[in-house]
Amino acid sequence: MTKEIVVSGIRPTGKLHLGNYMGAVKNFVQMQHDFHCYFFIADYHSLTTHPNPADLHVNVRTVLAEYLACGINPEQCTIYVQSDLPQIPELYMLLNMHAYKGELERVASFKEKAKTQPDNLNAGLLTYPVLMAADIIIHKAVKVPVGKDQEQHLEMARTFGNRFNRIYQTAVFPEPFAFNYGTELVKVPGLQGGGKMSKSDGDNNVICLSDSPELIRKKMSKAITDAGPTEPNTPPSPAVQNLFDLMKMVSNHDTLKHFTDSYANCSIRYGDLKKQLAEDMITYLNPIRTKIEDIYNDTAYLGKVAKLGAEKAAASAEQTMAEVRAAIGFQKFYS
Ligand code: ADP
Ligand code: TRP
Repeated sequence: MTKEIVVSGIRPTGKLHLGNYMGAVKNFVQMQHDFHCYFFIADYHSLTTHPNPADLHVNVRTVLAEYLACGINPEQCTIYVQSDLPQIPELYMLLNMHAYKGELERVASFKEKAKTQPDNLNAGLLTYPVLMAADIIIHKAVKVPVGKDQEQHLEMARTFGNRFNRIYQTAVFPEPFAFNYGTELVKVPGLQGGGKMSKSDGDNNVICLSDSPELIRKKMSKAITDAGPTEPNTPPSPAVQNLFDLMKMVSNHDTLKHFTDSYANCSIRYGDLKKQLAEDMITYLNPIRTKIEDIYNDTAYLGKVAKLGAEKAAASAEQTMAEVRAAIGFQKFYS
C-alpha cells in the first residue's frame, strides 16, 4: 500500500523551544515511520517580518540542526529548506491568480497582524495562506501536522487546491487536513503565567531545546507562581496550573502526584516544585540538547542533508508542476 503524504514546516525565527517540540517536531519524528513525509524550514515565510540576512542564515541552520537532533531522519523522510525549491514560488504565483483580496483579508492571522503591526502589512502577509497552500499541495499532501492556530490556513489550502482543480478541470490536488496523533492538540504553557509557550513573549517564557542545565534552572527559578494555597483543595491559579501541566509532560507520575497532593493539603513549597521541574526538564531534554551543538557545527553533514532533501523534494515538486503547467495550458515552443 502506498503511504499517505505528509508535509509540515516551521518558520526559522530562532531556536526551537519545548512548545515547538511537543506541538510539532515530536509528531514529525513519529510520523516519519508511518507516512511518506516532507519536513521543511519555511524560510520564505519568515521574510514577512524582514529578518536581516545574517540572522536568516543562522536561524535556518539552527532549525535544520535541531530537527536532526530531535530525531528526524533524512533517510526515512525528506528534510529540506523551502527556498531550495523554485517550484514553490512558481506554484504560489499561479495560485495567487485565483486568490481573492476579500477572502485573504478575512483570515484571522492577517487580521491579527493588521492590529499588531499596521505599519508592515505587506502583500506577503496577505498572501501567507497562498504560500502555505503551495508548500502543502505541491507534494499532494493529505496530512499536515500543525497546531490549532493553523487550522484556518489548512482550510484555505483545501479551497485553493479545489478551486484549481475546478477551474482547470483536473484532479491534480487532493485535500489536505490538519493531523495529530492524540485526540487533543497539545498546548505547552509558558513560564511567565500567560497562555502558550512562545518566543514572542520573551526569553524567560520559553525553555529552548538547546538551553544548558544552568540556564533551565535559572529560567525555572524565575517562573511565575502565586502566594500559595490558603485553603485545602482549591484549584491552582493559572500560573501554578501551568507548572503542573509542564510537570505532566516531563516528570514521572509519582513526582506529579507528590506536588499536586502537597498543593491540595497546602504544604507545597513552590521553590521545591520549580527545582524538581527544572531537573526533570533537563533530564527530558538532555538526549536532544547534547546532540544539537555537534550537528550545528558539522557543516559537511548539514550540507549533505540539505542537498539530499532538496533533490528528493524537487523531484516530487517538479512532477506536480508538470501537471499544473499542462493543466493551465503552458506549452513549450521548443524542446
Ligand atoms: P512561536 O509561537 O514560538 O513563534 P511558531 O508559531 O513558529 O512558534 O510554531 C511552530 C510550530 O510549533 C507550530 O506547529 C505550532 O503549532 C507549534 N507550537 C508553537 N508553540 C507551541 C506551544 N506552546 N504548544 C504547542 N505547540 C506549539
Ligand atoms: N504557518 C506555519 C506556522 O506558522 C508554518 C508553515 C508554513 C507550515 N508552511 C507550512 C506548516 C506548510 C505546515 C505546512 O507554524
